[in-house]
Amino acid sequence: MMLKTHDCGKLTKRDVGKTVVLNGWVQRWRDLGGVLFIDLRDRSGIIQLVFSPEFSREAHEIADRARIEYVLAVRGQVVERDPETYNPNLPTGEIEVRVTEVEIVNAAKTPPFAIEDGIDVDEAVRLKYRFLDLRRPEMQRTLMLRAKAMRAVREYLDSHGFIEIETPILTRSTPEGARDYLVPSRVHPGEFFALPQSPQLFKQLLMIAGLERYYQIARCFRDEDLRADRQPEFTQIDIETSFLSRDQLLDLMEGMIVHLFKETIGVELKRPFRRLTWDEAIHKYGSDKPDLRFGLEIVDVTDIVKDSDVKVFSSVAASGGVVKALNAKGCANWSRKELDDLQPFAVRYGGKGMAWITVKDGEWRGPIVKFFKPEEIAALTERLGVEEGDLICFSADKLKVAANVMGQLRLKVARDLGLIDENRFEIAWVVDFPLLAWNEEEKRWEAENHPFTRPRDEDVPLFDTDPGAMKAQAYDLVLNGYEVGGGSMRIYRRDMQEKMFRTLGFTPEEARAKFGFFLDALEYGTPPHGGIAFGLDRLVMLLAGRDNLRETIAFPKTASASDPMTDAPAPVTERQLEELHIRLSAKAQAELARRRAAGGAAAEGQEAAAGGTSAEGRESSADNTSA
Ligand code: AMO
Ligand code: AMP
Repeated sequence: MMLKTHDCGKLTKRDVGKTVVLNGWVQRWRDLGGVLFIDLRDRSGIIQLVFSPEFSREAHEIADRARIEYVLAVRGQVVERDPETYNPNLPTGEIEVRVTEVEIVNAAKTPPFAIEDGIDVDEAVRLKYRFLDLRRPEMQRTLMLRAKAMRAVREYLDSHGFIEIETPILTRSTPEGARDYLVPSRVHPGEFFALPQSPQLFKQLLMIAGLERYYQIARCFRDEDLRADRQPEFTQIDIETSFLSRDQLLDLMEGMIVHLFKETIGVELKRPFRRLTWDEAIHKYGSDKPDLRFGLEIVDVTDIVKDSDVKVFSSVAASGGVVKALNAKGCANWSRKELDDLQPFAVRYGGKGMAWITVKDGEWRGPIVKFFKPEEIAALTERLGVEEGDLICFSADKLKVAANVMGQLRLKVARDLGLIDENRFEIAWVVDFPLLAWNEEEKRWEAENHPFTRPRDEDVPLFDTDPGAMKAQAYDLVLNGYEVGGGSMRIYRRDMQEKMFRTLGFTPEEARAKFGFFLDALEYGTPPHGGIAFGLDRLVMLLAGRDNLRETIAFPKTASASDPMTDAPAPVTERQLEELHIRLSAKAQAELARRRAAGGAAAEGQEAAAGGTSAEGRESSADNTSA
């Protein structure tokens, strides 16, 4: 095969006159009265090739057999196009290559979708044919951006004394709040490895080991409910440091994020980053990851309506709840249906309802207006800045619920009113998270972050008196409404770590069994330390202006945590199960039988197990594609 001397997309007018060899895929093929035009694509871009019997009869004949996505090798001369045929949409639009020699290197089946940007294809099909999806320029750009992001992060951390260290994938459970992916041990019957939810314990052990500054671009695994911004397998930029104050660490990390934005997309973020306390974030924005690209703040009106005749307000206030209000400026013209939809909207986010009023023709309207006293109306008008044309919505509930409902409403109103500037990056630290959260169902305290986070020094005495009031030395980095990073200063003394485990309801035996190695390590001169982990996938998603993590990962999982291309997860053979000392439950067997009958993935897996027929199938389909 003729091997390339140039990249298709990088040829310019300066190359006119040169003889070049190009390798690539057929993007477009058309025959204009005996002259063939082929757009050849490689990862650098597209160039127009011209085949005419005038340049080479043989090349013209061979090119006549080429089709979309065939792999070609061509030799030819770069010439300037006729100015009338300039293509302003193509960087190489002023030139073309007159081909004198061509090789069809490989044939291709017709792809199931067009290899171009902006296609409207079911994502399941894109994922099944990910190798074709990734040929599309926008996907290649995103992968290149991702590589650039990793390079920028490494550059920065390497030049600031951080050491890149790998930690195990086959390990023990690390508590980050999700379910573990487990790997059965063949050698130790009945025992399992857990895939890491994060390298948390290992990075702390590296600090105990005296490495001082660690980082890793680390794969993490969490078996949790998936959303557009969550994958079961994702990548963290994982960092841990010793002998730094919180503010020194945050400052160092700001430097990294600024470097990352500058190197990847040329955006200069302003320093220092804004800081919000968790309380402020929850009260004003109804979220611990507020989108700060717009205002539309939530307002507390509990004091105004606590004695109101609106019973939901007064009763919630009396039971220690809050009443939160949002002034949706200019939304008084919402239709009756839109207003009625507020009720199910509130329920969807955990609330019980949503009271509202509209201000039209100088008059307050809505189901609860008749219960308001004039002084309440006056006070609400002042606090909420109520004007003609406004829609005021209320949520009365426990703080967490009311905040969430109003936080979601805030986002919806901002989207509806077009208040979000998609080209802006608003970044902030959220600090002073609560240390613990009360799990009402299980009647016990849970770590809000993870159990290794240190409380604020002044809050330590509250361990014994009022654990719920303790604030953590924890921080999240929030960008445009996404949590892109989170970390904390850690507990570095065994007594405090044991106290933490005790507060979380571990008996000393349980703590020993799960974390004994770590508790022991804490006793050998542990330095004060702290760290953070950034979600690489989320950062790349935001850098690339995408709104789904799957677009930033070469081979992602679907929302049901499977891969339509490889058909993972898949059944395994009886023999493998036996070796692993595992027996399937009746339920699992029935499910596999059902899927086998339906001819799904299970069937293929069984065949593979029975003697490799599906591998043969794969080979014969490969045959079809060779010329
Ligand atoms: P945390 O659990 O907050 O902290 O995770 C850190 C960051 O990782 C990203 N992230 C995810 N991205 C994609 N899919 C997921 N399922 C997913 N889960 C988390 C988020 C998040 O901010 N060990 C601690 C860090 C520390 O304390 O140093 C940890 O893992 O962007
Ligand atoms: P009700 O008295 O239940 O008919 O409710 C009167 C109005 O208050 C309706 O518009 C409800 O949607 C609203 N509402 C009910 N519960 C709440 C709540 N917890 N917070 C805010 N509004 C509510």
